[in-house]
Amino acid sequence: MQLITKSQTLQGTITLPGDKSISHRALILGAIAQGDTEILGLLDSEDVARTQTAFCQLGVTIIEESDKVIVQGRGSKQLKAALNHQLDMGNAGTAMRLIAGVLAAQPLTVSMVGDSSLSRRPMDRICLPLNRMGAQVTGQKDKAYPPLRVKGQPNLRPITYEMPIASAQVKSAILLAALQTKGETTIIEPVPTRNHTEQMITLFGGDIKTDGHTITIRGPQTLRGTQIRVPGDISSAAFWLAAGLLVPDSEICLKQVGINPTRTGILDVIRQMGGDIELKNQDKQQEMADILVRSSSLKGITIQGSLIPRLIDELPIIALMATQAEGQTLIKDAQELRVKETDRIQVVADLLKAMGAQVTPRPDGMIIHGPTPLHGFKADAKGDHRIGMVAAIAALLVTKGTAFLENAQAIQTSYPQFFHDLERLQQHG
Ligand code: S3P
Repeated sequence: MQLITKSQTLQGTITLPGDKSISHRALILGAIAQGDTEILGLLDSEDVARTQTAFCQLGVTIIEESDKVIVQGRGSKQLKAALNHQLDMGNAGTAMRLIAGVLAAQPLTVSMVGDSSLSRRPMDRICLPLNRMGAQVTGQKDKAYPPLRVKGQPNLRPITYEMPIASAQVKSAILLAALQTKGETTIIEPVPTRNHTEQMITLFGGDIKTDGHTITIRGPQTLRGTQIRVPGDISSAAFWLAAGLLVPDSEICLKQVGINPTRTGILDVIRQMGGDIELKNQDKQQEMADILVRSSSLKGITIQGSLIPRLIDELPIIALMATQAEGQTLIKDAQELRVKETDRIQVVADLLKAMGAQVTPRPDGMIIHGPTPLHGFKADAKGDHRIGMVAAIAALLVTKGTAFLENAQAIQTSYPQFFHDLERLQQHG
C-alpha cells in the first residue's frame, strides 16, 4: 500500500486499543480462575483473538457483550483437550509462551503451532524451566522452535530459577505453572520486567511476593474471577508519541494510557531527549493517565541497562525518533530485539537506512546519527506489526518521494484501527 507522506500537522485525541500484555493475561487468568471474570477494554486484535480461541478450544466459555468480555473460568486443572489436540497461536509469542505455562500443569498433551514468524522464535527459554518442573515441553531443533508439544504433568515440582535473560514471558510461563504446583517456586530476574502477571494474580485473590529481583509464589492456589479494566496500550501510544514529537506543529492527546512503571521507559527516554510530554488525569491506583504530546526538537541519548526491558517493544519507534534527533543515539543491551517478531535490530536498521538515515546495527543494539532528512522508501512489515507502524510514522516525515509498505496487515496483530486513527489526527479530529 502507498503510505501517507509529508504530513502537515497532527492534532486531536486518540483512545488507544487495550494493552496487549494485559489482555492476554486477563483471558488466561480468567480461564483458570473459579467463577466469572468481566474484562472491560479487552484489545480486539488478532493476537488476543488467538488466546481467546485457544481457551474456547480448551473448553472455556467466553461471552462477548457490547462493552465487555466475560470469561467463565473453569478453575485450575479443569481444561479439556482441544479437539484435534492442536492450538494455532498465529503470530502471538506471548500467547504461546504463557499458555504453555498453563498447560504444563494440566493432564493434557497439546501441540501449539504458529505462523512463519512465530515458527522462528525460540521456545527453549520456557522449555528449560517448565521441564525442570517435570513437564515435557519440546520444540524443533536447537532452540525448540514451534510447533511446540506440551505434555502436561498434574504433579509438577516447584523450582528456584535464576533467569538467564530478562523476559516477562518466561517469568509468566513459570508463574502460571507454579500457581498450579504444590510448594514454593522462586524466580530471580536479572533485571525487573513487566509485572502484569504478578499484579493480576493479586487481583484474582492470589498470593505472590516480589522482593527486588526475586518473585516467590506458593501453590496450588485457587484464583477467583474478578473485574478487570484494561488500560490503553503504551506500546501502541508510542507511535503517536513519536508522530506528535516529530511532525511539526502537532499536539496529540492520548487517553487512558497504562503507565505501569515497568512499561514507561519510553516516557523517560522522551523526557531525556527533550520531548514535550505531559501526564494529565493520572489515576495512580489504576496506573492510567492521559498523555499530551507536542512537537519538539530532540537530542540523541544513550539507552541501556535496566531501562531496556521497560521499553523493549518501543525501541523500533525510538530508533526512528533518533534519526530526527541532534547528535548520536546509542542503544545497547538490547540483543533480545533479535528474537522478536523479526530480528528488529537488522530490520529496523535496514528500514531506516532505506529512507536515508544514518544507522549502524550492533550485536546488541544500534548507533544512530541525526538529524537526517528522510526520503521515499519501499518497506515490508515482514509479519511484524511494529515494523509496519514504524514505516507508517516514518512516511509522515518523508520530504521527497513516495513511501510504500508491503504486508501492512501485520498491524492487525496489535492495532487494527491504526490507519483510521492516523486519518483522524490528520483531519484534526
Ligand atoms: C511481553 C513481554 C516482552 C515483550 C512482548 C510482550 C509480555 O517479551 O517484548 O511484546 O506480555 O510478557 P519478552 O518476555 O520476550 O521480553
